[in-house]
Amino acid sequence: MIEEHKLLNGTRVASEIRAEVAEEVGALSADGITPRLDVVLVGDDPASQVYVRSKAKTSAELGMRSETHVLPAATTRTELEFLIDRLNADDEVDGILVQLPLPKSIDSTKILDRIDPAKDVDGFHPVNVGLLQQGRPQLVPCTPAGIMELLRRESIDLKGRRAVVVGRSDIVGKPMAMLLLHAHATVTLCHSRTRDLPAVSREAEILIVAAGQRSLVGAEHVAEGAVVVDVGMHRVTDRSVVEQLYPGNETKMAAFEKRGAVLCGDVDTTRVAPIAGRITPVPGGVGPLTIAMLMANTARAARQRRGSRS
Ligand code: GUN
Repeated sequence: MIEEHKLLNGTRVASEIRAEVAEEVGALSADGITPRLDVVLVGDDPASQVYVRSKAKTSAELGMRSETHVLPAATTRTELEFLIDRLNADDEVDGILVQLPLPKSIDSTKILDRIDPAKDVDGFHPVNVGLLQQGRPQLVPCTPAGIMELLRRESIDLKGRRAVVVGRSDIVGKPMAMLLLHAHATVTLCHSRTRDLPAVSREAEILIVAAGQRSLVGAEHVAEGAVVVDVGMHRVTDRSVVEQLYPGNETKMAAFEKRGAVLCGDVDTTRVAPIAGRITPVPGGVGPLTIAMLMANTARAARQRRGSRS
């Protein structure tokens, strides 16, 4: 269990952000502009289906419109491009999100490049990536943007401090490093080939872990008092692994008994929380922030594209 004073509560911050977005959506709608998010899902990956459903549900809760386009796994690149072109051309569509991963037969880079940058609520288009790198961000990838909001609203100072990001993905690690850099942190970006990762990550005053590897970061990776943000999300269905990860944790065991699985992150929270100054839980940390920022990006895209040019 994480002590209350150490907890970085993503669920609470995400609900603050959602409330602010709902307010903005209300104001836009009063001006006749109801933001609309279109989500494209190709194939029948169960995890992707869950994510896509929750995006549609949250859009509705905040007063936005949303459409989900479900295409069969055998969809060709040309067919998918045809849909993207149609959504790009439709003035009612403010945000376009193509759920990843796409089937292996489709080159996702070519698809993401085809989305109108003004509607690219994932922030993956090279125009948005370039603008972020130049320090004039427009639409910023949702997970790192959400982490920045969490750090800001929890008054975690970044200026001049040592930040270490573990993981160099285009979705999280790279944009995260850029955002921290622009916030004047001294940033180290680590990855699977980094030599002596524990020694490097122990330098961190702020440690962001987005490596996609369960329990990669243990006590030996973390300095006393560090702020630890865990982006990992892994479903554990093996009882002995759950017992090893959460010894004596009745809440986790009860969750396991109920659902046959628990979620855990890239950080071994049981061993790291006693050392860390602040830490995000899994679940209830970064996950809810990502979707809140997707909503914020959609409202922003609507305002910028269609707003009374204010
Ligand atoms: N799949 C996993 N994470 C993401 C994300 O942030 N955006 C999209 N489009 N797909 C994902």
